[in-house]
Amino acid sequence: MTTTLLRGRTLSFLRWPESVDDHAAYAYEEDGAILVANGKIVASGPYAQVAARAGSSARVIDHRPHLLMPGFIDAHVHVPQMQIIASYGAELLDWLNTYTFPEESTFENAQHGRRISRLFLDEMIRHGTTTVAAYCSVHKQSAEAFFAEAYDRDMLVIAGKVMMDRNALEAVHDTPQSSYDDTKALIAAWHGKGRGLYAITPRFAITSTPEQMEMAQALAREHPDLHVQTHLSENHAEIAFTQQLYPWAKDYTHVYEHYGLMGSKTLLGHCIHLSEREADVLSDTGSVAVFCPTSNLFLGSGLFDYQRFRRREKPLRISTATDVGGGTNYSMLRTMDEAYKVIALQGEKLNPFQSFWQITRGNAEALSVVDRVGTLEAGTDADIVVLDSASTPSMRLRSERIKTLAEELFLMQTLGDDRTVKEVYVAGKPAKSDLVVSNS
Ligand code: GUN
Ligand code: ZN
Repeated sequence: MTTTLLRGRTLSFLRWPESVDDHAAYAYEEDGAILVANGKIVASGPYAQVAARAGSSARVIDHRPHLLMPGFIDAHVHVPQMQIIASYGAELLDWLNTYTFPEESTFENAQHGRRISRLFLDEMIRHGTTTVAAYCSVHKQSAEAFFAEAYDRDMLVIAGKVMMDRNALEAVHDTPQSSYDDTKALIAAWHGKGRGLYAITPRFAITSTPEQMEMAQALAREHPDLHVQTHLSENHAEIAFTQQLYPWAKDYTHVYEHYGLMGSKTLLGHCIHLSEREADVLSDTGSVAVFCPTSNLFLGSGLFDYQRFRRREKPLRISTATDVGGGTNYSMLRTMDEAYKVIALQGEKLNPFQSFWQITRGNAEALSVVDRVGTLEAGTDADIVVLDSASTPSMRLRSERIKTLAEELFLMQTLGDDRTVKEVYVAGKPAKSDLVVSNS
């Protein structure tokens, strides 16, 4: 058994930090270490203690003065949108019709799917993200390619092929039956294989017929332990069209409620324009609202009301995500910078500890995987990111005035990007320094 001792400053959250003075919310070691064996964290804490536990045979990797944290988690991404990120000038429905659906049609080709999956996970790693909840294209083979690529890297991913049988290009339509059959086959082949987890993925109410929604309902009933991911209340035109397609529904959320798709493993992308009734339903069912700030700003969708959702009498479970390629950056640091601004526009603040809680433990809790990732606790998987808060000339200069950990975190969130990520460990193995830099 090879054991590795990672030395550096360590930071891991124990719970939501109420304020920057809430030091009991996290464990921070100025001279810390993480002991890793067989892909798992054996111990973490003060270097002297952990090193004593490690014994003399452990390989020591010294990351001082950098900061070791749990790998970042991205709760909503679209793998087949890598080549349409940064497409100009459209709101959601136009953007889908003009750029997204034609692009996703190319994933009929399995080799293309494998290539993009490889480049996608490379990009995630480069940016310090070790777990994603991902949408593949409508094609079964695109999900196979993604799961195979994640399996080869031993990454914890949650993913699914999108179910969509209307209101898009013919080339990206399935049928209620084929979407059911393909999803069943993918669950059998990939759910629980390595660290892969399958998510039942009806794209959104607009692109599924009632017959297909019934199939999604059947899948969710047959596999109650699986995640369900979809989109909800992102854009006004989307909401109006949904109401037209489901005239009996009280509101958009009622559609998913009606088809039995709400629950503690349900991840709902965007949730920008929810009524109080809808927010109550999310809260009552434990469903998760996924905040995608760069996407919401880029597509002009609106401002997610993070603090209101947290503080309301019936609070929502919240996660954050890039939503690449509606989102404009692969980095969870860049994402939280934009989140901070979206929240500021509503007269509120998200402090740096809360931001870093969100992209580690917070997203792990929201995705129901906190027993495996999102902290540095013993027994969890060794997915770890190494951060350098002086990774660019402007950051180095700004660092000269930094006095506290909170200030340092805020600097990384505000000015940091992939350059801030010095190394990434996936299941205990170095993954960033291992990347072969290529775009082929
Ligand atoms: N709603 C349905 N599909 C999509 C998508 O691919 N991206 C975004 N941002 N919203 C969606
Ligand atoms: Zn999305």
